[in-house]
Amino acid sequence: MEKIVSLIEGGLREAFSACGYEERFAKAVLSNRPDLCEYQCNGAMTAAKAYKKRPIDIASAVVEKLKESHMFSMCDAVMPGFINLKLDGGFVAGYVEQMAADERLGLEKAEDPKKIIVDYGGANVAKPLHVGHLRSAAIGECIKRMGLALGHEMIGDVHLGDWGLQMGLIIEELRDRKPELPYFDEAHTGPYPEEAPFTISELEEIYPAASRKAKFKAEEGVAAGMSQEEAAAMAESGRVFAERAHLATRKLQEGYPPFMAIWSHIMAVSKKDLEKNYSALNVSFDLWKGESDVQKYIPGLIQDLVDKGLAYESQGALVVDISEDSDPKELPPCIVRKSDGAALYATSDLGTILEREKEIRPDAYIYIADKRQDLHFTQVFRVAKKAGFVRQDMPMDFLGFGTMNGKDGKPFKTRDGGVMRLEMLIDDISKAVYQRIMENRTVSEEEARQTAKVVGLAALKYGDLSNQAAKDYVFDIDRFISFEGNTGPYILYTIVRIQSILGKYAALCAEGQADQTSSDDAAGQMERSAKRILPAASDSEKDLMLELARYNEVMENAFAEKAPHKLCQYIYELSNAFNRFYHDTKILAEEDKEKQGSQIRLISLAKDVLNACIDVLGFGAPERM
Ligand code: ARG
Repeated sequence: MEKIVSLIEGGLREAFSACGYEERFAKAVLSNRPDLCEYQCNGAMTAAKAYKKRPIDIASAVVEKLKESHMFSMCDAVMPGFINLKLDGGFVAGYVEQMAADERLGLEKAEDPKKIIVDYGGANVAKPLHVGHLRSAAIGECIKRMGLALGHEMIGDVHLGDWGLQMGLIIEELRDRKPELPYFDEAHTGPYPEEAPFTISELEEIYPAASRKAKFKAEEGVAAGMSQEEAAAMAESGRVFAERAHLATRKLQEGYPPFMAIWSHIMAVSKKDLEKNYSALNVSFDLWKGESDVQKYIPGLIQDLVDKGLAYESQGALVVDISEDSDPKELPPCIVRKSDGAALYATSDLGTILEREKEIRPDAYIYIADKRQDLHFTQVFRVAKKAGFVRQDMPMDFLGFGTMNGKDGKPFKTRDGGVMRLEMLIDDISKAVYQRIMENRTVSEEEARQTAKVVGLAALKYGDLSNQAAKDYVFDIDRFISFEGNTGPYILYTIVRIQSILGKYAALCAEGQADQTSSDDAAGQMERSAKRILPAASDSEKDLMLELARYNEVMENAFAEKAPHKLCQYIYELSNAFNRFYHDTKILAEEDKEKQGSQIRLISLAKDVLNACIDVLGFGAPERM
């Protein structure tokens, strides 16, 4: 459906040109003075300069013309030259009626659909998922779903970090713990065991232990009460261990068969666990590719960069200059090979681009990661364009997100100061919701537990997505789970409330049917009385309609700006509009059946729009709460 604001602008364009002014001045925006009007046009002010007239004269002439349109119930020219507009009740009702009759609720499919890669998630295999990964997953999933809703072909790739030092650390830690394993027996030639030498819980413990060991500093030991000698000895063995891990990583990257075999086990065990974690977040990927998949492109791509004269040696490393004159300050070159020849983050990303160009041929790329990776992506994008890995005008966007902080304003930590793991976070939040539900206990424990999961996820994701992605935000569990204010639970509560009214209405209709002797059954009656949405009978009803009518515009904008928070803001305002309407309207007691049918159809549309939006945000609503 055409956006309501475009319809309004259509009316304005006619009026401007009928008065002899250019159509480009006919811009409409949502009113910033809702007490005065619903939409406004500020074009007379800009036109005044072009035509050297008083803005109010232009506005008044346009308003005279606008009065002929069926679209407006009020048009006012206000000093110094604003055009204030209120929409005709029949026009607005007709618009939302059309939405209600459309299975896409008025959302149009892109005329020129694009194939877009969304690179998000970015979990590191065998390392615990932390809250930064939550942000990437939540934001990326939402952007992917927005694109899908608008008819684009969105391809989500988790882009696993599966080729780094963590692998060497795990291998060497495993050697220390289980030296008898065949992977460490150089004489072993035969095939390696099919069964993994660890379970997921062992693996989860192995990596942090190895990482701690490798990083151990003597001062830490002393601080923890060790003697000087003990601490120094431990730090020294940590250093040796770290060296072994680096070596093991190198050997793995060179394809040493026993380490490749361990790596495959790590991958299989971890991936299963990651899938579980992501699915608990309602996040799913089309591709489960990782850094390891593209190593085969790297020698060729480095050679190509050298051949094209882009890569040169600098302090033993191979680098590509990427700085541009227009940069406010000089950007460092992109390192494509370290002096020890080890694989690099940037090189893996370049290899990934080559593979995507070869196998997917996308029209655009969107990457979602911590905003501290901004330089990395600038470097990668510029090298990719300079080297012609992608076409020069390829849209490549990096959406960097801020840090999730605790109430103390510092990065969110566990109670004992460790990095907060995603599972614990999800667990904490559903427990808190569970308690809240049990406080006004009207449901069984089992139902409360199920509901708490659904509501908890909404609280977590909405708490994240409702902030502008690039900003840091404070994780405040009490606020996130509140049923009031701009929160996920409030939105769900609104949906559940509408569901409950619709349920009661259906029950009333069924009762009516039982009383009736004629063939005039309840379903038929419901259908006839709810045939169409009538012009609003109150201000709150009209406000609700106006909010609903913005749906397609909001979705398009939120996607164009890659701004999930705009969708959140919209459903918050829509929920407020519904709740105001609900408070001053006795829907179920309404005696005028046609009017009641119209109200039911309207709130049912509100429910559908809210549900469509939360689905795009990546969570769902419970039956009741
Ligand atoms: N694994 C990385 C991390 O944990 C994020 C990956 C982001 N995506 C990419 N194509 N580099 O920081």
